Amino acid sequence: MQHFSSVDGVLHAEHVPLTDIAEQFGTPVYVYSKDALSANYAAYADACRAHGRAIGSKGGALVCYSVKSNSNLAVLNLLHRLGSGFDIVSGGELLRVLAAGGSPDKVIFSGVGKTVEEMRLALSHNILCFNLESIPELHRLNEVAAAMGKRAPVSLRVNPNVDAKTHPYISTGLKENKFGIAFEDALATYRIAAALPHIEVCGIDCHIGSQLLDDAPLLEALDKLIELIDTLAREGISIHHLDIGGGIGIPYEGGQSVAVGDYLARLFARIDAWRASTHQGKPIQVMFEPGRSISANAGLLLTRVQYLKHGSEKNFAIVDAAMNDLARPAMYEAWHEVLPVVEHQIAAETYDVVGPVCESGDWLARARQLAIAQDDLLAIMCAGAYGMTMASNYNTRGRAAEVMVDGVHVHVIREREIPSALFALESIPEYTR
Ligand code: LLP
Repeated sequence: MQHFSSVDGVLHAEHVPLTDIAEQFGTPVYVYSKDALSANYAAYADACRAHGRAIGSKGGALVCYSVKSNSNLAVLNLLHRLGSGFDIVSGGELLRVLAAGGSPDKVIFSGVGKTVEEMRLALSHNILCFNLESIPELHRLNEVAAAMGKRAPVSLRVNPNVDAKTHPYISTGLKENKFGIAFEDALATYRIAAALPHIEVCGIDCHIGSQLLDDAPLLEALDKLIELIDTLAREGISIHHLDIGGGIGIPYEGGQSVAVGDYLARLFARIDAWRASTHQGKPIQVMFEPGRSISANAGLLLTRVQYLKHGSEKNFAIVDAAMNDLARPAMYEAWHEVLPVVEHQIAAETYDVVGPVCESGDWLARARQLAIAQDDLLAIMCAGAYGMTMASNYNTRGRAAEVMVDGVHVHVIREREIPSALFALESIPEYTR
């Protein structure tokens, strides 16, 4: 099913016209489709089950949705109810998962810079696993766990040195990146981990980058991890789960990205063949950390044209959303489809769609053919991932409201921020000189 589609010339989210949402909740507003989120999660879970891997069971599979892509409590709660675990990168994200009703025993904690406080918090909730990225981090976690009388479950994030062929800012699996433990250092690091009394080695993980349109680099990374697991087994270090990270992209500009079901079929075929040949068929739990492939096309940013400005070189559609609402174009020159919400019988012109922020980098789309007039609504598509989570208050702009559409119903899942809330934590000192 198309979760955002045009009915009688008006773009809808599920069964609700976006014109109604704008009227009721104002703009800019993030609009999510519950069905789209559910279907995107199901693509992973169904493929796991189709390959004989029960979700959540040892030797089965676990989908740990990457919270950073869209961390609204309603999104997390929906995914939790569907059976998802969570991949977090901060203590704040753990608290969000808990507030959304998520289970800490399905939480994995990634990231290169975990603080002592974050480690304590995660240990106190008995999370499933810490994905560690360096030897000092290993020692720190061992000490924190010792002080709490616990053993910390650990996976090492290995950097397989595979080129993910994506934007340099979101490529993470190359030697030059800050992420992970170099492949050639992994064995020695596992030996250190295995010898630490308050560390329990349980897994191996990687994440080579984001917005991968092809699964070949992921399968290449899998082969490297398999090689390492076999080496570790010969040393008596057994690995109970293999976490291949996130990364499957979406076709922002049309075309195709690899289908989740096809990718998982290829991945499981390799894993099954390997386990059958070298591990007497003994299963290993397989984990995924998808973010974008679950949340991106499940959300759009709805904005209203404030002015049309016709310049000598360019035409601008100045809208009420800006780089503070959706940073991806300014940060990565990312391309998002822009659709007029109501179709007009007027001549299309070429516009740059820009926000009101005082920076030339404040653009949402460039050189688009749009048949639009002042006060029209535009939908910036595929904004459900890394949209609201990367929003800021630059220019003292309150962050947009968020709504979840469920069939014919619309639920506010985050109120629009009011300006006074933006400076409520600030104070003016009583100077003494
Ligand atoms: N696991 C780890 C350890 C990650 O660092 C990430 C994303 C994911 C999983 C989820 O990756 P995904 O399935 O969403 O590709 N802000 C950028 C994307 C940054 C991705 C950071 N890491 C963007 O807007 O394109």
